[in-house]
Parts: sequence; structure tokens; C-alpha cells
Amino acid sequence: MLHRPLAARANEISPSPTLSIDAKTKELIQAGRPVINLSAGEPDFPTPANVAEAGIAAIRSGFTKYTAAQGTVGLRTAICRKLLTENGLSYQPEQVVVSSGAKQSLYNALMVLCQPGDEVIVPVPWWVSYPEIVKLTDARPVFVPTDASRGFALRREMVEPYITARTRAIIINSPNNPTGAVYSEEDLRGLAALAVEHGLWVIADEIYEKLVYDGASHVSIASLGPQIKAQTIVINGMSKAFAMTGWRIGYAASEPEVAAAMTALQSHTTSNPNSIAQKAALAALTGPQEAVAAMVAAFDERRRAMVAALRALPGVRCEYPAGAFYAFADVRGLVGRTIRGRPVTDDYTLAEILLEEAMVATVPGTAFGLPGFLRLSYAASLADIQEAMRRLDNILREA
Ligand SMILES: Cc1ncc(COP(=O)(O)O)c(C=O)c1O
Repeated sequence: MLHRPLAARANEISPSPTLSIDAKTKELIQAGRPVINLSAGEPDFPTPANVAEAGIAAIRSGFTKYTAAQGTVGLRTAICRKLLTENGLSYQPEQVVVSSGAKQSLYNALMVLCQPGDEVIVPVPWWVSYPEIVKLTDARPVFVPTDASRGFALRREMVEPYITARTRAIIINSPNNPTGAVYSEEDLRGLAALAVEHGLWVIADEIYEKLVYDGASHVSIASLGPQIKAQTIVINGMSKAFAMTGWRIGYAASEPEVAAAMTALQSHTTSNPNSIAQKAALAALTGPQEAVAAMVAAFDERRRAMVAALRALPGVRCEYPAGAFYAFADVRGLVGRTIRGRPVTDDYTLAEILLEEAMVATVPGTAFGLPGFLRLSYAASLADIQEAMRRLDNILREA
């Protein structure tokens, strides 16, 4: 029994719904069982050598003190250059706030934009932290379904019925986790027009921007005109494109007033992001980009292998995702069947059965707000993906 109750806020935050599957996966791996883990949310590649070396050099040269809370001018200048040349976005270094991962950038942005009673549009399925971060600001997530048959991209007409006088912001994530959807320029133009008409903030999470396939191209919604740019907080980071998840560097670009508010907030919570990681991030942005291209090519090969195999499985439907490193498979055709004597009641029990009977770890769609689907990450070796697909084929053909 606690002596005093926790804050109501603490009870509002849900732990990850995938926790028990994750715990079971780790337990099996630790027990030496041959689990193939397709639940990962991070590249399986090492951080490129030149980037790692820049971190080591930073330590050796004593670059180990506090920096400006919003990140070094050098890194913010390199980020501005990247945003200009790759995304067609012109920002000054004071408009960029570097944080300990894009997750903190999202938290900073929502904290300075939202207040109690506000509503924030969150497309379904969602990345697991969006609803929880919105709740931390005392605003309310408003869930807007997307359409599997239209590639899960959010379109203006899907959002419109959910707009109220309290709507404050829309979260857009393209390329998308968990679906791999890449929003077309037309989709983004519609959403931008809607946001401008209703005076809404747009939080554009572009963390997977470099991971696009089949000729798809990433468009930043902020690049579609000066008004939408002024209303958008562009979120990006090093984790996915440069295999730097553990370094914890993300950033936000926005209007000067928004950036100043985020900097003030960060100055009282975590201060500057890690100084060593900032040097590594600078090297990642300004150095050779061959490692990124090689990772994208490898992800693409794995994507095609995984999705072709998924599409051949009985009871499974899956479109080829155009971005990120996830396949989002429709497994509603398996619900109600029995596998190895175990009834498949929903996506959650299916993931449990696949883990325990086939030693393949996946994430149930329920974790992302969409039951009846499984997310399979192709941030795993081609050999592992092929073996995992063989195992799924074996077990599902018995069903
Ligand atoms: C959609 C999305 N946004 C943001 C993040 C956070 O990335 P970071 O490691 O930079 O905090 C992730 C990580 O999984 C993600 O999938």
C-alpha cells in the first residue's frame, strides 16, 4: 500500500500493451530457444564507422561538457542545411531544437502546444507513444481511422468529421510506423489545406523519411507553402536513417516562438542532448551517405522477400509497404481458426501462438490501436526473415 496516492497523471499513462509478449520473447531467447525476433523497432545495422569515430574523437578531445540547451550551433546549422537541401525547407539555427531522440522532440512540441481540454488528431493505427504523450499534456487524443484498402494514408476527408472547436493539432507520421504508408503529395496538400483552414498545428514526424522504396518519395508537409510551414513542427532524428537509436539525437524545426518555448522547457528537464552524440550526429549529416544507401537497399531486399512470403500464407493479406521497415499484415482471416490445438481468438493470441509454437516474435496490431493485424519488422537479416517465413508457412498450413 502506498502511503500517499500517485498523481492522477501517473495512472493515465498506459504501459506498452506489448510488454508481456516482449517479456516472453526475452525469456525464450535467454533460455536459448531459437527465437527470430521480428518485433524490433530499430535497424539491425551498426552505426556507420565514421559516425562512431566522431563520437570517440569527441570523448578524446574532451567535448564532454554541457552545450547550449537546444544543441550546438554547429549541429543546428548542419540540420538547417539538410532541411534546405533535402526537404526544401528554410530555417535558421535558432528555429531548430536538438533533443534526446525524436521522442523527446515530440514531447516538447506537444507540451508547448497543448493545454487541458484540447484535442489532438491521432491517425489509427498509431505509433505507441503518440496517445500517451498527448495525455501527458492533459489534452485528449482523438483517434481517426485510416483505410487499409487505401494504404493507411490519412486523407483530409477522413479527418474532417473529427474536427471540433477544441482541435489543436494533427499528428502526421509519414513514412509510417506501423503500416509503412508513405503519404502522397496530394494527401499532404489536402491535410495542409485543412490545417490552414482550421488554424491547426501539424506535428510532422518524418523520422523514417530516408527509408522509402519502389520509387516512392518523401514530401515534407511543411514544404507545401509558407502558411502550412508556419503551422508545422517538423520532427526528425538520427535513429532510423543512421542506425543511431542508442545515441539519442532527434530534432524539431518550427517557428522561432515555438522553438524558444521548446528550448525553455528542455532547459529545465534534460538540458542539452548528449554532447558526444551531437558530434556523432554532425558527422552523420555532413559525412559520406553511402552507408545509408546500403541500408536502404538491404531493407528493400528484405521487404520484398518478407511481403512476398506473407502474401503466400493462408489467411494473411499484406500490401507492399512503401516506407519504414515494417510489414503490417491483415490476419483477420486467421482469427477463429485453431493452431496446434490453440484457438486464435484475436491478433494478440495469434502473436502469442506464433511466438511459442513457431519461435517467431511479432507485434499484435492491438498495440497500435488496430486489432486483426500483426506488425512484422524487416530490420532482421534476410536469412532470419526467410527462416521465419518458412516457420510461419509450416504452422499456418497445419491450421
Ligand atoms: C514513428 C516514430 N517516431 C519517433 C520515434 C522515436 O525515435 P527516437 O529514437 O529518435 O526517439 C520512433 C521510434 O521508434 C518512431 O517509430
